[in-house]
Amino acid sequence: MKKKIAVLPGDGIGPEIVEQAVKALKSIEKKFQHEFELEYGLIGAAAIDATGNPYPEETHALCTGSDAILFGAIGDPKYDNDPSAKIRPEQGLLKMRSALGLYANIRPVKSYDALLDASPLKTERVQGVDFVVVRELISGIYFGKPRGRSEDQSIAYDTCVYTREEILRITEKAFQFAKNRKKKVTLLDKANVLATSRLWREVVTEYAKNHPDIELECNYIDSAAMEVITKPKKFDVILTENLFGDIISDEASVIAGSLGILPSASIGSTIGLYEPIHGSYPQAAGKNIANPMATILSAAMLLEYSFGMLEESNAIVQAVDRAMQEGFVTEDINNGQYSTSAVGDKIAEFILA
Ligand code: IPM
Ligand code: MN
Repeated sequence: MKKKIAVLPGDGIGPEIVEQAVKALKSIEKKFQHEFELEYGLIGAAAIDATGNPYPEETHALCTGSDAILFGAIGDPKYDNDPSAKIRPEQGLLKMRSALGLYANIRPVKSYDALLDASPLKTERVQGVDFVVVRELISGIYFGKPRGRSEDQSIAYDTCVYTREEILRITEKAFQFAKNRKKKVTLLDKANVLATSRLWREVVTEYAKNHPDIELECNYIDSAAMEVITKPKKFDVILTENLFGDIISDEASVIAGSLGILPSASIGSTIGLYEPIHGSYPQAAGKNIANPMATILSAAMLLEYSFGMLEESNAIVQAVDRAMQEGFVTEDINNGQYSTSAVGDKIAEFILA
């Protein structure tokens, strides 16, 4: 098959980890006789430096003209330490998600037997964990208006807005995932306090009535934040809004053993965006120490979700599994001794083996 992939390395460790995922894709091309045309684009701080815009028109055109997008990370301390900065790298990612209509962010969380020691949680608690967070991605408090500051700068506000339609379309996605899994959806909200959460509950509960094959559970996000650690095996599909999903998915990475191994897919429109859930880890940028596995596994999700290449996707997942089992891991996992590029080389080699 011939496919075009937009590659957006972004900031911090982005370029290094994306390079390893590209190696994996090259191995897949070779092994399965595909042709992936890779075209690189700018986003984030790198794009601001070059064009003044964190998501330039040119990058948007590249994305809409491609079959899928592979993305690294975004964020730069030079903006984090400047609260007055009007243009911020993160706006690039938010703009891209929104402009491409990527309303569903899919974040699978599972424990790897080879990494059970890497989790600070007890083995019996995390072994066998397998759930997926379905996070609403282009609405809620991330996008609601009004937002900003009062004229005298003494008041700041963000607005959380959700419409029925926005909740319904992500609910449909979550139920579709549940259908092919353990048939359980857990809605996480704060319906005891927030009006938006009460609308979520209303819409999701109504939808569930017409889908009796799927069990629906509604939990408060604060109590679920505890249960993700104390009873992670109770979850199958977690359905939640933008901000809660952002937080709970980072928390859930503790189960897997490292934030460096959780991939994600953002879908909804005709094009899919694939990225690790972690950020740009600026302290590690250029040092060849960051874990590339989350990005490599994101490339596996890309092959499965956007191209329907199941066997190819599995070949990547198995190669990553093998690298973990044989100890080819970076320092975030059990003080691994291997560099970013060495792990990438091993995985690319294992795909072809
Ligand atoms: C994520 C990140 C982003 C988010 C940031 C970089 C804007 O934390 O993908 O989880 O909050 O969505
Ligand atoms: Mn996040």
